[in-house]
Amino acid sequence: MNARIRKAVFPVAGLGTRFLPATKTVPKEMLTIVDRPVIQYVVDEAREAGIEHLIFVTGRNKGVIEDYFDVQTELQATLENRGKTTELNLLAADLPEAGTTSFTRQQLPLGLGHAVWCARELVGREPFALLLPDMIMQAPKGCLAQMMEMYEETGGNIISVEQCEPERASSYGIVGVGETAGSGFRITEMVEKPAPGTAPSNHFISGRYILQPEIMDILARQETGAGGEIQLTDAMIALLADQAFYGMPFDGQTYDCGSKSGFLAANVAYALARADIAPAFQEELKKIIAARR
Ligand code: UTP
Repeated sequence: MNARIRKAVFPVAGLGTRFLPATKTVPKEMLTIVDRPVIQYVVDEAREAGIEHLIFVTGRNKGVIEDYFDVQTELQATLENRGKTTELNLLAADLPEAGTTSFTRQQLPLGLGHAVWCARELVGREPFALLLPDMIMQAPKGCLAQMMEMYEETGGNIISVEQCEPERASSYGIVGVGETAGSGFRITEMVEKPAPGTAPSNHFISGRYILQPEIMDILARQETGAGGEIQLTDAMIALLADQAFYGMPFDGQTYDCGSKSGFLAANVAYALARADIAPAFQEELKKIIAARR
């Protein structure tokens, strides 16, 4: 039987320069999609997939993320006094159980691979999930839940993938497609931002991973790659020599909330999916679009 995936790592130490000036004081993971912070959607996806322990790799100015996943006693008391049970229930449903979150700091933003390595003691020697909070994945069954099902069949390392226009491949981490495995395929190779015309496929790595603990041993070498950063893809390429990696085409819609257009698109999509606000929002949107014609 494959070892169970109990823990998920959320690297939230990036500087978020694409959202300056907001990210001078507000971590980009706390920017809201409708009325919930980006990070809440990703945590929801992990909890839906059965994750029991949430590990956040934070950095300076990210303390508010830790506060967000804590009880706000004064707020709770005020809501209770005012009889606001709907709001109280909403807060209670989102609150992780005591003792199921851990926070560690990446002291310097040395790259995604380094951020993952900072979680090594909290992860321990067991396979774990990694979710990049920039990516919000919208689907009736969450992306990580889809990957967990595949993992039961294949074990090993699994990466969520999506397809891009071939000419866009040089902007992404791209995987080579081998034989069918589970609901996806065996990965034959990985290339970070391949030179135009050299990509082995148009399947790009899209932000969800199930990784075996040996990835930490490779990251411990602290080897730098593109941009002088410790790159996760480089470590996965090294591990591919010893272990199986599988690609799982995600069945759903992804929004890259690390980019302004993706973040705004996510706001529109999630607002239109919400019965409580969709009718009014749709009217507002129509007016804006009509005024621009
Ligand atoms: P990005 O490449 O989007 O970088 O990181 P960023 O700093 O967050 O944002 P921009 O490009 O300056 O706007 C991808 C993911 O890796 C994490 C980020 O928090 C994000 O979830 N990351 C990146 C770290 O945790 N530490 C790092 O050193 C780099």
